[in-house]
Amino acid sequence: MFQVPRGTRDFTPEEMQKRRYLEHTMATTFTSFGYGEIQTPTFENQELFTAKSGESIINELYAFNDKGGRALALRPELTAPVIRCYVERLQMEPKPLKLYYFGNCYRYDRPQKGRYREFQQAGCELIGTDTHEATAELLALAYTILKNTGLKDIHLNIGNLTIISAIFRKLHLLKDDQKMILPLIDKSQFDDLQIALRDCNVSEEMITTFLDVLQTSDITKIRAFIGDDAEANTELSSLETILDLLRDAFHIPDYVIKLSIVRGLDYYKGLVFEIDAPALGAEKQLCGGGSYDLISLFGGTAVPTSGFAIGFDRTLLALEEEGFQFPTPKLDVFVIPVNPTMNNTVIQITQKLRSLGISADFDQLRRGIGKSLKYADAKHAEKVIIVGPKELENNTVTIRNMKTGAQEVVTLNDIYTKLQKS
Ligand code: HAM
Repeated sequence: MFQVPRGTRDFTPEEMQKRRYLEHTMATTFTSFGYGEIQTPTFENQELFTAKSGESIINELYAFNDKGGRALALRPELTAPVIRCYVERLQMEPKPLKLYYFGNCYRYDRPQKGRYREFQQAGCELIGTDTHEATAELLALAYTILKNTGLKDIHLNIGNLTIISAIFRKLHLLKDDQKMILPLIDKSQFDDLQIALRDCNVSEEMITTFLDVLQTSDITKIRAFIGDDAEANTELSSLETILDLLRDAFHIPDYVIKLSIVRGLDYYKGLVFEIDAPALGAEKQLCGGGSYDLISLFGGTAVPTSGFAIGFDRTLLALEEEGFQFPTPKLDVFVIPVNPTMNNTVIQITQKLRSLGISADFDQLRRGIGKSLKYADAKHAEKVIIVGPKELENNTVTIRNMKTGAQEVVTLNDIYTKLQKS
């Protein structure tokens, strides 16, 4: 009768088990890199998102006025909210400030596999440092989190907007032309880019070299193209140092320089990066990030900021696509009364097990042993305790190992030591 709204999803217990597993793995990696968790509201004042991107962003938002007439929006991402919180409350914290988050995001996107209107991000913001080692660590963290989830085939691509700006200067592109061609670069639409550059009166020779430089990972070629632009040369040398650290100190050699990575969001500057999972096809971008500037726009004292966000749902899809074996949900013990007069004892056993941290459940449908064993099997119970009148007269119960089928009779007192040990 009713269905979930377009672009949203329900998650069953089986799916939630996978999501919680993934969340736990990611959170463990964030904390192992010295990050602390932060949470911000699901909705914010609309201005927070229009401040940098302009009013046109509203088309992509779930934006609304509340009963008090306040213009609000469900967050499309968490970087702006986290920086708002930093400016409001955390500016005096010791630097660098390392913040990570999990949060639902909302975008008025066209839904398809891997693209939803409500989706989850796992991300982080690094505030107060942009040293080479800090930037190399940020790249290492993004890569390590995804590797630690169990993903095998991921590609880390690194670009740089300072170098792209220098190239635009070299091509004598006007600001409006740059705005028009950036999305073409972002989407790797190189044929359309070629046409657009011709329209901007860029020479054929320049276009060919530019297209080559956008797709090469050869630093020498990039250096040759940017020529004597001082800012771009400094940035390129920095990039080289960062990548040396990434390879030699963090031991992450599988990255590619790709200047066509320019990121869609408006707040980036300098280094930008993306991580793809080819297994996902069209929506293969698992992670995006880079250095950016929002603090001064939000009225704070400017310090360097960078970060990234991982598409949580896409990571899960990529793991499934690669055939990853998620841990199955399991119940430690299922307790079965042979008849309802055993209920009191069965409940007491179950409660004692629960108090010892052992997951336990008992038959609540008053069905026979055969059906109860089937249910226990469906719930992946490891052990079953059968409480029957005859055994109970001797203060004993039967414990059955569901994997091997082996059964043993134990006294009521011994149940707990027996189950805790195994
Ligand atoms: P973003 O690239 O817009 O960056 O989003 C990050 C990731 O969220 C994407 O790589 C993708 O995996 C996932 N994602 C985006 N849209 C959807 C969608 N409609 N459905 C499913 N997954 C989606 C940011 O949001 C920046 N705030 C990242 C950042 C943090 N930069 C600096 N700090």
